[in-house]
Amino acid sequence: MIKKGIILAGGKGTRMSPLTKAVNKQLLPIYDKPLIYYPLSILMLAKIRNILIIVNKGELHQYKKLLGDGKNLGIKISYKEQEKPNGLPEAFILGENFIGKDNVALILGDNFFYGQSLTKILLKCVKLKKGSKIILHKVINPEKFGVAKIKNNKILTIKEKPKKHISDLAITGLYFFDNKVISLSKKLKPSKRNELEITDLLKKYLQYKQLKAEYIGRGGAWLDTGSIDDFYKTSNFVSAIENRQGFKIACIEEISLQNKWIKRKEIINSIKFYGNCEYSKYLKKLITK
Ligand code: DAU
Repeated sequence: MIKKGIILAGGKGTRMSPLTKAVNKQLLPIYDKPLIYYPLSILMLAKIRNILIIVNKGELHQYKKLLGDGKNLGIKISYKEQEKPNGLPEAFILGENFIGKDNVALILGDNFFYGQSLTKILLKCVKLKKGSKIILHKVINPEKFGVAKIKNNKILTIKEKPKKHISDLAITGLYFFDNKVISLSKKLKPSKRNELEITDLLKKYLQYKQLKAEYIGRGGAWLDTGSIDDFYKTSNFVSAIENRQGFKIACIEEISLQNKWIKRKEIINSIKFYGNCEYSKYLKKLITK
């Protein structure tokens, strides 16, 4: 079982400047909560309780103020600073001590997932013992992502932001790896854009025939939060669902409560922490049912 997860929450967010000049992208709101709550909730739904958050140098205090050490969520959160955005696989080099001898999940801090069968897929992925697993989702703009070409249920090739169409299956920012990921990441060379590329890492696993895929079908959503427009679109999506159903998406305290990692006492602490707001009202309802 994979019990450790990394959230990569650095990056400069240049496409969203000036919003990201003083505040990191992952702390900006998607409707009623900071973006980072969404990827964090995904790891928690996968029953991962030991989490490393990688942030930009100098931004640690912002994240600590919001999430602390995770005690109030019944999880363990540790942090590591990244000097500059050297690429996604650097997560496994910076996270070497955190990972130790275990297998690990990685989620990008700006990825949003939603869907009924999601938890089922996640719980299947954390069973990974050997190799690596990626999650694919059909998109109309594959040139913006890493993509995978599939034949007879097997991954044939993968490519980062292909100029020529090879497949419309995007590789989402949620990955599951065995412990080899540390040594393989250390061997990677920077690409033309001077970054270590996650697709180069995945290609290594593909070479060893150790790369498998799961799919989020049309009933699920994987949304992009790379631009200001995406932020508003994703916010509208969350608002439409939350205000229709009355359930919150990515309420991290609710997931902890459901996982039986915390009790009423911790929820009361969170209500005090958040103060008088809609989010606290929702938390109050959770313990007064
Ligand atoms: O979202 C999925 C896509 O993410 C994949 O399909 C691509 O294969 C993968 O390369 C990645 O592409 P992006 O171009 O969207 O990655 P971006 O550079 O925008 O970084 C994604 C997140 O990770 C963002 O929240 C910033 C953070 N990040 C990024 C880099 C390169 C870091 O914290 N450190 C980094 O060094």
